[in-house]
Amino acid sequence: MRRILVTSGLPYANGSIHLGHLVEYIQTDIWARVQRLTGNECYYVCGDDAHGTPIMLSAENQKITPEELINKVYNEHKADLLGFNIYFDNYHTTHSEENRKLANLIFKRLEENGDIEAHTILQAYDEKQQMFLPDRYVRGECPNCGAKDQYGDSCEVCSSTYSPMDLKNPISTVSGSKPITKESEHLFFRLDKYAKVLQKWLNSGHVQSEVAHKLNEWFEQGLKKWDISRDEPYFGFEIPGHRGKYFYVWLDAPIGYMAAFEKLCTEKDNLNFDDFWGNSTTELYHFVGKDIIYFHALFWPAMLTSAGFRKPSAIFTHGFLTVDGQKMSKSRGTFIKARTYLNHLDPEYLRYYFAAKLNSRVDDIDLNFADFVQRVNSDLIGKVVNIASRSAGFINKKFDGILADKLDDNNLYKEFIEQADVILDLYEKREFSHAVRNIMLLADKANQYVDNKKPWVLAKEEGKEQEVQDVATMALNLFRVLIIYLKPILPAMSSKVENFLNIEPLDWEDLTKPLLAHKINKFKPLMQRIEQEQVDKIIDESKM
Ligand code: 2FM
Ligand code: ZN
Repeated sequence: MRRILVTSGLPYANGSIHLGHLVEYIQTDIWARVQRLTGNECYYVCGDDAHGTPIMLSAENQKITPEELINKVYNEHKADLLGFNIYFDNYHTTHSEENRKLANLIFKRLEENGDIEAHTILQAYDEKQQMFLPDRYVRGECPNCGAKDQYGDSCEVCSSTYSPMDLKNPISTVSGSKPITKESEHLFFRLDKYAKVLQKWLNSGHVQSEVAHKLNEWFEQGLKKWDISRDEPYFGFEIPGHRGKYFYVWLDAPIGYMAAFEKLCTEKDNLNFDDFWGNSTTELYHFVGKDIIYFHALFWPAMLTSAGFRKPSAIFTHGFLTVDGQKMSKSRGTFIKARTYLNHLDPEYLRYYFAAKLNSRVDDIDLNFADFVQRVNSDLIGKVVNIASRSAGFINKKFDGILADKLDDNNLYKEFIEQADVILDLYEKREFSHAVRNIMLLADKANQYVDNKKPWVLAKEEGKEQEVQDVATMALNLFRVLIIYLKPILPAMSSKVENFLNIEPLDWEDLTKPLLAHKINKFKPLMQRIEQEQVDKIIDESKM
C-alpha cells in the first residue's frame, strides 16, 4: 500500500472560486479518489491563502477587518468546493497557528543556515496611505512607448518590463496620490545557493518535461535572491526578531500545505507529520497551475531543502481554462463562479467534461458549451445511464428485483474487467481523457450487447423468462463495472447507483465479483439531460 499526500493550490481569500479554479480541484480530487478506491492511503489537503496586500486592502474597502473578510470567504470557498464533490481530508487556512509555527520554524532554519540576507531596496511609497506599494498598485505612462495607464511592472502595449518608479506620471491606485521612492531593508532568501540541487532535481523526473525545459531557461539567466519580507502595514505574520517586517504571502502560502496536514494529524490518531514531511518513504504531490510553477518548482523545494524537510515527489502542472476558445471574460459572461454554475447545473456534468479533456500535459483546456451539452447528454445519459434504465425494469417488474445467478456472457464480462489495469494506469498518469475514452468504448459495447439480445422482444415470447433475467442481469453487471471505473469522476452518481443496486460502496476489487442472485432496488432516474437554457442562464447571470 502506498502512502500519499496530495495538495492543490490554495485559493486567495479575497475572491470567489470560479470554473478556472475547478479544473485543478477536480483534477486533484479525481486522482486522490483513484488512489483511495484502489486501496492506497491518500490524503488530500488544501486551504485558503489568506495573507497579503490585496486582502488587507479589500477588507479596508469593505470596512471590515481582514480576519472578518477571510472568515467569510473561507466559509464560501468550503461550501463551493463541497458543492462540486471535492473531498478534502482537511481544508485549512494559512492564517492559522499551525502555519505561523511552521513558517517561524522554517525561517529560523533558513537563518541558521546563513540563507537569509538583509539588503536595502528602493520602493514606491504612498505617503498619504503610509504604505509601501506593490508594483501592481502603481500605474502610469509606459517609459518605453508612452502608453497610458500601465501597471508598475510591465506594459500591456509594448510588453517592456521596468520598475514602478520608471513610469511617467505615476499614481498610487490605493490613494490616488503621487508615490515617492523610499528606502527599506528587506530580507532575502539565498535561492542562488540551491541552483545545483534544484537543477538536478528538476531534470530527474519530478516535473513534466515541458516544465523542466521552461525552468532551465531561468537557470541560464542565473537564480536571483528572493525577497521574502514586506513592511507593515501588511496582513500576515510578523517575522520573529524583525519588528515591523512580515513574511511575504508567497513565503507562508506553500507552508500552508504543511499546516493543513499538521492540523489533520492532530485530529487523527496514527497519522504522523514526520512520516510525510521528514523523509521520502511516502509520496507528496502538488497539483498547480502553470502560472505558479516558479514558486513550487524553485522556491519551495529550495526552502524545504534548507529547512531539512523532504522535497515533493512531483509537481503536476496543468494549463488554464478557456471558455469557447477564449480567455474567461466578465463581459462575455464566461467568467463563471462556482456558485452560479451550481445554481443551475449538476456538478458531475462538469467533473465529467473536465475529465474528458484533461491529460498530463500543461496545455490549456477549453470548455466549449455546445460540446459540453452534447457530450454529457450523449455519453452519460445516452450511453452509461441508458444501460441501466433499459435493463432495470425487467428485473424490477418480472423478477421481484432479483438478479439471475449467473452471467449470460462470461467472455464479455472478462473483456470489461481486463481493462482495469489499463484504465488505472491512465488515471495514475493523469491521462484522464484517454481513460474516459476507453470507458466510453466499453459503454458502447454494453449497449450493443443489449441491442443484440433485444430483451424487450424476449419478454413478449413464451418460455423466455430466464433469458430475459439473464440478459438484464448481464447488462446491469456491465453497467456496474463502468460505474466502478467512473466512480472517481462521478462520486455522487456512483452513490445513487450503490443505492439502486442495494450494495455497499463499490471499490476496485469489486470488479472481479459480479453481482448475482441479489435483490436490487427500484430504478430511479440517475441523471437529467442538460438543457441549453440552463447554460444560457449561467452565462446571463455571469455577465457584468
Ligand atoms: O496563485 C494563487 O492563487 C495562490 N494563492 C496559490 C498559492 S499555492 C500555495 F503555494 F499556497
Ligand atoms: Zn509600453
